[in-house]
Amino acid sequence: DDLAGLACEDFALSRLIVHHAASDGWQVRTGPLPEDAFDGFPERDWTLLVQDVDRWDRDVAGLLRHFAFLPRWRIDDIMVSFAAPGGSVGAHVDQYDVFLIQGMGTRRWLVDSSDAPDLAMRDDVELKLLRQFNATHDWTLQPGDLLYLPPGVPHHGIAIEAGLTFSVGMRAPSRAEMLVDLAEHLAEALPESQRYTDPDLAPASDPFEIDSSALNRARAAMPAIAPLPDASLVRWLGGFLTRYRSAGEAAASDEVTRPEQLKATLHNGCRLSHHPLARFAWSGLGDEPLLFVNGLALPCPTTQAALICRHSELGMSELAGQPEIIWATLARLVDSGYLFPVEGNDA
Ligand code: SIN
Ligand code: CO
Repeated sequence: DDLAGLACEDFALSRLIVHHAASDGWQVRTGPLPEDAFDGFPERDWTLLVQDVDRWDRDVAGLLRHFAFLPRWRIDDIMVSFAAPGGSVGAHVDQYDVFLIQGMGTRRWLVDSSDAPDLAMRDDVELKLLRQFNATHDWTLQPGDLLYLPPGVPHHGIAIEAGLTFSVGMRAPSRAEMLVDLAEHLAEALPESQRYTDPDLAPASDPFEIDSSALNRARAAMPAIAPLPDASLVRWLGGFLTRYRSAGEAAASDEVTRPEQLKATLHNGCRLSHHPLARFAWSGLGDEPLLFVNGLALPCPTTQAALICRHSELGMSELAGQPEIIWATLARLVDSGYLFPVEGNDA
């Protein structure tokens, strides 16, 4: 009852999961739940889960003193679930270490501790459930029992009797989250006056090219990323520079233009114009040459990328004799809205 009450509060993160055993269908409802959410509920096959219960309940928070062998900041929260008999959230993997403590009731845990389990997910359910699950272990937990699961170990808990499970979760930050946060942290300390500079800028041989001097100036502006290889740095820089201070976005089309269809249109005299909001650039520095438009990076041979950048209007007079591959790139840019057809007399 306490858990159900908590699940009705705005501040609590809760989920109610019902398994329709006959069809193996899953129904997920996220909180806050209305007071009558449990009215007329079946006797079996459902679980109510509430996260962060240690924040709202002193007794639950008291469990944490048994975990003093771990740095407190590694512990995320204590999630409490109530499962009716048969209740389960399906076979899944978690990305973090978890200690599952059985409260009242009993629960059967099937665990697959094999070396390289198949982690493919079902695509027919809202929950992240495994398509295949083959247990190597089968344990039934009684009140007071504890099961530790490392990250990435497939598991499936099924309530035998109605019961409570207390999950002490240790969700670790992803490297991506750490990197983004560090970048923001470092950026906060940098004054606006410190910018990318190019006092050595020489007249451009192609004004749309991102060349090695530009890449090295980006390195000089951000010493922390200087060791990154050209290929990953230029892919980022091209995307960033063509998005930087863009005044808006071109409207993408829902349709898919076929390259040969586009070619026929241009043969009829039509031309392709750069969208005024599109910023074009290209670079041959990466592991493959790239054409950049407003953050989009398309593989494209340098000669053709330079051609597309250089002509703010493209028709057959510019495109005749170009390798076939250019038409797929042009079609993609038309669908993204960065190139749009205009009437011309270029037949
Ligand atoms: C539960 O408490 O019902 C599920 C916990 C889990 O498998 O992560
Ligand atoms: Co889990």
